[in-house]
Amino acid sequence: MARLDSKVALITGGESGIGLACARLFVAEGASVHLAGLARGGLEAAVAELGPDVADFSVTDVTVEEQVVAALRQVASRFGGLDILFSNAGISGDIAPITDYPADVFRRVLDVHVLGAFFLLKHGLPGLRDGGSVIINSSVVGLTSDPGICAYATAKHAQVGLMRTAAKEMAGRGIRVNTVHPGPTDTDFQRDIEVSATGAPPDVAARIFEARIPLARHACPEEIARSVLYLASSDSSFVTGAALAVDGGMHI
Ligand SMILES: NC(=O)c1ccc[n+]([C@@H]2O[C@H](COP(=O)([O-])OP(=O)(O)OC[C@H]3O[C@@H](n4cnc5c(N)ncnc54)[C@H](O)[C@@H]3O)[C@@H](O)[C@H]2O)c1
Repeated sequence: MARLDSKVALITGGESGIGLACARLFVAEGASVHLAGLARGGLEAAVAELGPDVADFSVTDVTVEEQVVAALRQVASRFGGLDILFSNAGISGDIAPITDYPADVFRRVLDVHVLGAFFLLKHGLPGLRDGGSVIINSSVVGLTSDPGICAYATAKHAQVGLMRTAAKEMAGRGIRVNTVHPGPTDTDFQRDIEVSATGAPPDVAARIFEARIPLARHACPEEIARSVLYLASSDSSFVTGAALAVDGGMHI
């Protein structure tokens, strides 16, 4: 039996990168998936690849409460229930010292990661089946930080507070809530951050980042997806309130 047989998952930011890698793995493990994201073209392509019989999508901005509610309604009417919430949508924001950091960018980064995850939990938890699993995609910089990333690191730390609160509130229903903390993972998102942070071309920037990772390489999205699958499935049946670093040792 596959590990997510007959489970239904909602993945925000599911049309690219880590979200799409998770969608592929979840479907391979027997789940149906709803991808809620911003890029219609990417969402349509992902659903076509995954198979419209097991995948659906909505153009959803996670910072707009009614759009999150509408996405959850669509899941209920299409798949008849929900077992897994993966809050994954994210943006990096600017790289600048706190004293120069633009307030509007700071606000937007917190909105996407924190308010977006909050809306997903606020409206998703009531309809989540007992025994379900919630995973929030934080970051290694939800456990540590670096100069220049005050908005992103603050948002990723805040997600841990939301996770811990939800884990205690939901334990009575057997719903587990955890965060995953990827280190640098080979996606366009990360390549852009590395180029902005170092001012170097992508290959050089990647080597500079890898010098700070004990395992001395980037993750591939599929490696993060396998950790998310662990948290989503009964393999992690006694794990809740955990912050799982999947970062090649970068947080040590
Ligand atoms: N790539 C890395 O190295 C890395 C490391 C740690 C954490 N993360 C986190 O992983 C998550 C996925 O990142 P990724 O690397 O796959 O990059 P990505 O850019 O491929 O994925 C981000 C997704 O979020 C979606 N999104 C952005 N704003 C949204 C909004 N307002 N509403 C709905 N969807 C929105 C985008 O459309 C995109 O599909 C992010 O939360 C990111 O912070 C990534």
